[in-house]
Amino acid sequence: MKRDPFRAAYGAAVITACVLVLAAVSLTRGRAEPSPAQSPPAWAYPVNPPGFKYPADDHVPRHVPGSSRTFLPAQLQSFFNAPDWHPNDHPPMPYVVARGRRPHVFACGFCHRPNGAGGPENASLAGLPFGYIVQQMADFKNGKRRTSVPKRSPPRSMVALSRSISGAETVAAARYFSNLRPKSYIRVVETATVPATRVAGWFLAIDTTGRSEPIGERIIEVPANLEQFENRDDRALFIAYVPAGSVRSGKALVLGSGATTACATCHGARLNGAGAVPSIAGRSPSYIVRQLFDIQSGRRTGAGVEPMKAVVRHLTASDMVAIAAYLATLKP
Ligand code: HEC
Ligand code: HEC
Repeated sequence: MKRDPFRAAYGAAVITACVLVLAAVSLTRGRAEPSPAQSPPAWAYPVNPPGFKYPADDHVPRHVPGSSRTFLPAQLQSFFNAPDWHPNDHPPMPYVVARGRRPHVFACGFCHRPNGAGGPENASLAGLPFGYIVQQMADFKNGKRRTSVPKRSPPRSMVALSRSISGAETVAAARYFSNLRPKSYIRVVETATVPATRVAGWFLAIDTTGRSEPIGERIIEVPANLEQFENRDDRALFIAYVPAGSVRSGKALVLGSGATTACATCHGARLNGAGAVPSIAGRSPSYIVRQLFDIQSGRRTGAGVEPMKAVVRHLTASDMVAIAAYLATLKP
């Protein structure tokens, strides 16, 4: 069999990472053990309320700022179409990204957007390492990357399509997304109170009642402009409300002064990835917390996760909030 250079590089990166973690763990041994996060935080895994319905199709053409294109609601809601509002923002999409393949492979760009920005309900893919994307697809397929709230439909669809996608389609998609340049779409706001929210299709949106409530130990990540987001504009921006003081305490944890190893050891000096290790800078804080929790609770156990296990072992729910709040302030 031919030796796969990616696999060799990936293996070497993971082994180096393991050695580093073991060294770090032996340094921190002996500290009092705080209790890990107990149950999946509801704000990070929004579930549609019973009887939830998407708005009915009114057949009215949609527009978004900065684009001369129009799309009908049916075109915006098809799993086999990635609405391309800004074709000059990215190279031409391979077929699997733009259209997918019926019946089971939904278009990657429908959920992850043509520019790879993703949203709080899934994940950003722009600029992730090629080999990392290929490996995650295998992990989803092999049941090694599960989620803590299985009734949420976006991760269920992700797992389903990973079982039908071909090797060539995976390579085409991984090549496309890894070559995109990630951008910043999130504004972090520290606050004690937040607008009340509702779950509007596996993500949080500001409630129309105008009520507000204490933020507590949560991150409330909402589209800055709901209509633009619902029209699947990949330039849509987000606001992440985070608890007052969390950015600072998150920074301390990320630098390695608290319960865990400095993230830069493996994720790169600017935390935007190194070798086969993915970026964690400037990504959706809801997504980051889901991953920290899924790794801690043993739902995510893919080939590369081993070095992360010691990192998350002692993180509390508020550590995770603080880390994600700080990471969201960074340039991706
Ligand atoms: C129905 C929506 C949907 C579609 C279509 C979709 N994904 Fe995903 N994808 C998700 C969700 C949701 C997650 C994150 C799951 C989580 O929160 O743990 C995800 C995560 C990923 C990740 C992991 C990212 C990371 O940082 O670890 C990769 C890689 C990925 N998808 C690739 C693809 C590719 C390639 C395609 C097209 C073949 C695709 N996805 C199509 C919903 C989708
Ligand atoms: C010893 C190396 C190492 C250290 C230290 C480390 N990580 Fe990781 N991390 C990894 C590897 C390797 C992966 C990829 C896991 C995989 O392949 O599934 C990863 C994945 C992640 C992911 C999931 C990313 C995604 O796209 O889904 C998050 C979030 C994360 N790390 C956060 C952190 C944070 C926060 C810290 C610091 C507190 C940290 N990591 C420290 C090695 C490390």
